[in-house]
Amino acid sequence: MGFRDQIERRRTFGIISHPDAGKTTLTEKLLLFGGAIQEAGAVKNNKIKKTATSDFMEIERQRGISVATSVLAFIYRNKKINILDTPGHKDFAEDTFRTLTAVDSVIVVVDVAKGVEEQTVKLVEVCRMRNIPMIVFINKLDREGKDAFDLLDELEQKLGLSVTPLSFPIGMGYDFKGIYNIYEKNINLFSGDSKKNIEDTIAFDDIENPELETIIGEVAAQNLRDNLELVHGVYSEFDKDSYLKGQQQPVFFGSALNNFGVRELLDCFIEIAPSPRAKMAEERLVQPDEKELSGFVFKIHANMDPKHRDRLAFVKIVSGTFERNKPYLHVRLGKKLKFSSPNAFFAEKKEIVDISYPGDIVGLHDTGNFKIGDTLTEGEKLNYKGIPSFSPEHFRYINNADPMKSKQLSKGIDQLMDEGVAQLFTLEMNGRKVIGTVGALQFEVIQYRLEHEYGAKCSYENFPVFKACWVDPQDEKNEEYNEFKRVKQKFLAKDKQGQLVFLADSQFSLQMTQQKYPSVILHFTSEFK
Ligand code: G4P
Repeated sequence: MGFRDQIERRRTFGIISHPDAGKTTLTEKLLLFGGAIQEAGAVKNNKIKKTATSDFMEIERQRGISVATSVLAFIYRNKKINILDTPGHKDFAEDTFRTLTAVDSVIVVVDVAKGVEEQTVKLVEVCRMRNIPMIVFINKLDREGKDAFDLLDELEQKLGLSVTPLSFPIGMGYDFKGIYNIYEKNINLFSGDSKKNIEDTIAFDDIENPELETIIGEVAAQNLRDNLELVHGVYSEFDKDSYLKGQQQPVFFGSALNNFGVRELLDCFIEIAPSPRAKMAEERLVQPDEKELSGFVFKIHANMDPKHRDRLAFVKIVSGTFERNKPYLHVRLGKKLKFSSPNAFFAEKKEIVDISYPGDIVGLHDTGNFKIGDTLTEGEKLNYKGIPSFSPEHFRYINNADPMKSKQLSKGIDQLMDEGVAQLFTLEMNGRKVIGTVGALQFEVIQYRLEHEYGAKCSYENFPVFKACWVDPQDEKNEEYNEFKRVKQKFLAKDKQGQLVFLADSQFSLQMTQQKYPSVILHFTSEFK
């Protein structure tokens, strides 16, 4: 198969949802379709259960599992599907944001009863900002839930989407009979009352055909006709181009648990979802079919085994092919590196691979060369943008609890920050180090890993910060900027890249500062230039 065909057949995407909406179940059903796993339950362990929030042994165990499930690949109807796993747990939201820089599209799972939830809002916002094509899957139709039109409204209102249903439920919960597939123009019916299997798929392109009554009964037939009329009246026709530009989002209904509506979703997905797309580097736009390799690190995973300190850096290939044992330029370090055992991912396994194509993810063993956002090329100095840091939610001073191990501690902190576990800020005033995380859970993870992987001990001290804002002085010589730096000295720090950060201790002080120094712009993400 030629290089271009290899690119065209790849679909690299992420599934995002609020925890418990059914992401894991849907992933598993997709893998079953691809024949990549044989039984249900195989992917189940992949999530960090709510009950494990303070049990870091459990986190460690799960971290190990999630290396294997970070990328789940399978072949379906000759398409190479790469699913990038995104942690559902909100304490790991930053991981998810970063993974979204490596996907070409996403599927958003929404629970029919709960509708749009908090995590969904945040994740979809990131996708919208990047114009990532999205398909919505409304799940758990086997249960009583919200009215389909109310849900479609909610998607538009709360997520700012512009939706168009490509399937429509026939009844719901107790009365759920099946689904009319608007995209394929057919009806899928459940078998009997069990709601476990699709009994029949009946081609049905004319909804006015009186046959409908015989198939689903009079009341359901009338309802379906009315609903579809409303759908056609209210929502614009599906337009692939608008979907690809992130301007329209098709919606499917189904039940992942019962494998209902999943095949329809997958079939439509492989047809409409984009193959690997061009990506903007700081220097220029890079096309996937360029001959020379380029790719970037979007995730780093520490080894489970504390005796082996090596890590796995996940590289998304943007252009060219990645070949084993070929030297590539690590742009930030300016040095060439060769990889003798790059990993590719297949189902829940990883294996050494000789060649990978755009859209694929390779896992590279790393002893500390990589950090998130690093770029590999064949010699060109390219830097991929778009892996910003967001303001952490929790902040604490980190202290050395074992003075004999200060070297180990700083190395450990350094490497954990490169992995993106948390953010490090160094106070301008006294050089003290402050760790910022998205969730309280990370503090325990860091403490545990410093001790077990680096032999260092740390303790924490509270540091009340409301938000970290990246400072953009506009003009460094400006009087106002200098006054800001003098007056706010106590609250200023440098992040790991050396960018100046203002640590506001309350919403009020943030507002006051903004009012007092209007020419100093405060940004809530690190990437504003
Ligand atoms: P997540 O990865 O998004 O967090 O969700 P996950 O797939 O783990 O699903 C969360 C719960 O919802 C699970 O039940 C799962 O079985 C259930 N579920 C998923 N899809 C459907 C569906 O289509 N219909 C119904 N009725 N339930 C669904 P659980 O009891 O929390 O877990 P488990 O004991 O089944 O593992």
